[in-house]
Amino acid sequence: MSITFDKAANIFQLNTKAVSYLIGIADEKYIGHIYFGKKLDNCQGGYALLRTDEKPFVPSKNERDKAAFADAFPYEYPTSGAGDYREPCLSVRTAQGCRICELVYTGHEIIDGKPGLYGLPSTFPKEGAAAQTLEITCEDAYIGLKAVLCYSIFEDSDAVIRSVRLINESKEPLYIERVLSACMDMDDESFEMLTLTGSWARERHMTRCPAAYGKHTASSVRGCSSHQEHPFAALLTPGTTQDTGEVYAMHFVYSGNFLALCQKSQYESVRMVMGIHPEGFEWVLDPWESFQTPEVVCVYSDQGLGKMSRTLHDLYRGHLIRSPYLHKKRPVLINNWEATYFEFDSDKLAAIAKDAKEAGIEMLVMDDGWFGKRNLDDSSLGDWTVNEEKLPGGLPALVERVKAEGLSFGIWFEPEMVSPDSDLFRAHPDWAIQVPGRIPTQSRAQYVLDLSRPEVVDYVCECVAKILRSADISYVKWDMNRQFTDLGSTFLPPKRQGELPHRYILGVYELQERLITEFPDLLLENCASGGGRFDPGMLYYSPQIWCSDDTDAVERLAIQEGTALLYPLSCMGAHVSACPNHIVGRSTSFETRGHVALGGTFGYELDITKLSVEEKEMVKKQIVLYHQYGNLVREGDYYRIASWQENHRYDCWEVAAKDQSEAVVTYVQVLAGANVRSRKIRLKGLDGKAMYRLEGTEKTFGGQVLMYGGVLIEPQEGDYRSKVLHFIRM
Ligand code: GLA
Repeated sequence: MSITFDKAANIFQLNTKAVSYLIGIADEKYIGHIYFGKKLDNCQGGYALLRTDEKPFVPSKNERDKAAFADAFPYEYPTSGAGDYREPCLSVRTAQGCRICELVYTGHEIIDGKPGLYGLPSTFPKEGAAAQTLEITCEDAYIGLKAVLCYSIFEDSDAVIRSVRLINESKEPLYIERVLSACMDMDDESFEMLTLTGSWARERHMTRCPAAYGKHTASSVRGCSSHQEHPFAALLTPGTTQDTGEVYAMHFVYSGNFLALCQKSQYESVRMVMGIHPEGFEWVLDPWESFQTPEVVCVYSDQGLGKMSRTLHDLYRGHLIRSPYLHKKRPVLINNWEATYFEFDSDKLAAIAKDAKEAGIEMLVMDDGWFGKRNLDDSSLGDWTVNEEKLPGGLPALVERVKAEGLSFGIWFEPEMVSPDSDLFRAHPDWAIQVPGRIPTQSRAQYVLDLSRPEVVDYVCECVAKILRSADISYVKWDMNRQFTDLGSTFLPPKRQGELPHRYILGVYELQERLITEFPDLLLENCASGGGRFDPGMLYYSPQIWCSDDTDAVERLAIQEGTALLYPLSCMGAHVSACPNHIVGRSTSFETRGHVALGGTFGYELDITKLSVEEKEMVKKQIVLYHQYGNLVREGDYYRIASWQENHRYDCWEVAAKDQSEAVVTYVQVLAGANVRSRKIRLKGLDGKAMYRLEGTEKTFGGQVLMYGGVLIEPQEGDYRSKVLHFIRM
């Protein structure tokens, strides 16, 4: 790993183990993108890729044609108003109302380590392991704006981490209308664009389309990263598979509004940008103030999507998730939401806890409905006091009862919200996000609290902390169940209203930071109506995120495939629920539901007291499997073997130990077929020279046979059947 500056060639070279990233400074001091790809031992000749001596002309040679130059130059950080008509990263308005900004290089620094980003989640170096950061400083002297382009690399990762810091060095405020975090200008005319799209209960399905002329986006202006689109985009060479093809990916470490955009220009060059969505955004940067963008993780893979996934998984496990639970076995939990919804009391929860303990479950999580007078979803958010009609003796009594059954205890909160029917709203109607004079839109009968107000952050923080201090609580599910409308803050002055969406997210981060600081042993799971805020930003605070409200085993295959494209399995909240499934009405076997949930954090979301004796026995067996494979699933390398989204019949994934000593393969036959033969499944990531034994049998296989030949999986009778195969090196 190294970052160097070749002064003679005017090139910065960032080298990870397998990847190089090259940046050039053109004669006119524009900062250009030269290369991101397979590692280069030296960068000689690379400067020519900036094409500064090719038509369209360089401005110094022909001032008249500067616009043509600007519209073709591969910028590292494009700005608007000076001739580059492609999608910019930065748009700034001056106090005089002008919107021109042009950045030129003024200096740079190469520093050891990686500075954190104040108030924002960010990747960090591992203790004792090397990291380096390049900070390129550039400025527009006319408007007095300085920008610092930051690039970091870690010795054990092939990712390049980018962010930008703006500093107003003028005497007047600057109005930042758009400040994205990263840009990649490339020269391929035929990329495909991969994004993750969906809806509530149908999150993160993989969507692939040609990156044709024009602009293609993935974005959210919903206040959160959203169920609908994901802060991720990748450009793929045509035909890219799990193992072959080139991938250029960007993933945003942020939980609010975002824009990922890919544009194919008139010269067939392709630009991909990513950052905070400019819609509804404006930041007033007063003299000598600075603005820090969130960071973008950039990954290049020359071995298809699989390598991209594993680079991201390792980066997030090694450099983003801070929780002490990261490498620990998570308790097998049972959550009462689908078991009881709002209708429960201490006796019901104790009964669940009792049967859960007998089956081997380790924690009871009490979901929505324990506070205020919340017997439906239409009241009490904001009133975080225990409903003693349901829970006599309050939380201490309930927690002791659950602990007496032998389980630890977890609790649900939705701290960022307020119900119109709540004491909090009656006392502080101005604390809700709203535009005075307009009736704000309700969603799930609730409003969003204005977290740009410090007193609201303090209030919410104290409410949650007070409950956690009151009893022995090991786990919190932090929910967020509505998206933004009627954006307005009665706290911020008119000129700063455009800061609300970002200030809100900074408030969320501050709240969670305070929470995990005061309760360092707490296991925090984020959630937003299922997976509506499943993003790298939240991983900085919680080691796991609830994947989706859809717990149907078949729907989950697509959701978990899309999620595992980017995230380690250890952070995908996945539970076994009752059938027919409450969302899609489908019935799948108990065994298959278990096998699918074992691909995530694993737990239960059902009324265990209503299960049959046989089903309770199956719970016990599934928990044995969890204890057996949990470490491997959490720490291993993930390989996608087959996708039923593509083949419409079966799904298959594998997790191999990093030392190749074992691998677990999950195979789901989604649809049975008539007169079909055994299916050949080829494993990946094994030791080709070693022999492996299939657990539970005397069958042995050479590693190469498993990888190149495969293993046969017999067809099973009926739909939604599954198998888990465990291979152990002999
Ligand atoms: C959201 C969550 C669910 C559950 C409910 C409670 O929808 O995703 O798991 O907690 O809220 O209201």
